Amino acid sequence: MNIEIQTTAKSRLPEVDFDNLRFGHVFSDHMLVADYADGEWKSCKIVPFAPLTFSPAMATLHYGQSIFEGLKAYKSEQGEILVFRPYDNYKRMLRSAERMCMPPIPEEIFMEGLRELLKLDKDWIPQREGYSLYIRPFMFATDEFIGVRPSNTYKFIIFTCPVSKYYIEPVKVKIETHYTRAVAGGTGYAKAAGNYAASLYPARLAQQQGYHQLIWTDGKTHEYIEEAGTMNIMFRKDNRIITAPLSDSILAGITRDSVLTLAREWGYEVEERPVPVKEIIGYLEEGSLSAAFGVGTAATIAHIVTIGYEGKDYQLPPLEGRVFANRVLKTLDDIKYGRVEDTHGWIWKPEA
Ligand code: COI
Repeated sequence: MNIEIQTTAKSRLPEVDFDNLRFGHVFSDHMLVADYADGEWKSCKIVPFAPLTFSPAMATLHYGQSIFEGLKAYKSEQGEILVFRPYDNYKRMLRSAERMCMPPIPEEIFMEGLRELLKLDKDWIPQREGYSLYIRPFMFATDEFIGVRPSNTYKFIIFTCPVSKYYIEPVKVKIETHYTRAVAGGTGYAKAAGNYAASLYPARLAQQQGYHQLIWTDGKTHEYIEEAGTMNIMFRKDNRIITAPLSDSILAGITRDSVLTLAREWGYEVEERPVPVKEIIGYLEEGSLSAAFGVGTAATIAHIVTIGYEGKDYQLPPLEGRVFANRVLKTLDDIKYGRVEDTHGWIWKPEA
């Protein structure tokens, strides 16, 4: 498909204060917009980043038929654009689309669109340690119709934002045993907008109690750990890296997969299995848990310092001693910024 490109008359880049970048507030000059109607993808354009206009009856606004992805581009010391595992995001987006009755996005639109967009907005990729260009592909229903059925028309958009850290400090999390993020048979494995909407109220209650985020438990018994808001969660106990297994209520994190791959290569025992809350609390009570950390694209590796459960806060060991989490963070950064050889085929170079 031909990608029509309209460039901005004036870049907003000189206005950006890179020293005070907050996650998700600053958007690059251009965005990719593709439209679906009559059973096919009709057009694909790159245009200046700008507000959209739509009908108040647009289906997404009412029933939430909307999905998204999150991935990052980095700039190497040599000034090359490096994107971390974009094809995995593409494949996950197809799975989300299927679950939400949305059409598949052609690989050409996703990958070639991303290539053109990144080449055009290359200067927006920060060349600083800890910084990257966050890429947000998303698709939503655009029918002007308020009956409940899958839309016949959709927009697929990719915009990008220069970012630094998502969590600016180590995180305090609370194990949630009342509210539920996802249930068996539900949409938890899809990156569906509604999953995030549903998480806001319980997360706000936790924030009012001084936590940054929740650790979600299974919707049926609340006895097993699933994932944390905005990231998957892992625990280190002795030589073991423990995390919940993928299921239809857990997001198949790409960082999750990368961390487990490295852990296996480094000789850790990786346990992807149901993780009872009681087991983790037992380790915390005896002081034998070496670390807990969130893993995600936006969050990268987020050290957890406190876990709250049933009114009690458990403190975790100091960050300096967390050998695995620190090593995996550094190794992934070295790969993402092109400082070491990419032996896993995780890096995609749009200019190559
Ligand atoms: C990501 O890590 O890319 C996410 O989608 C999490 C989030 C910012 C909602």
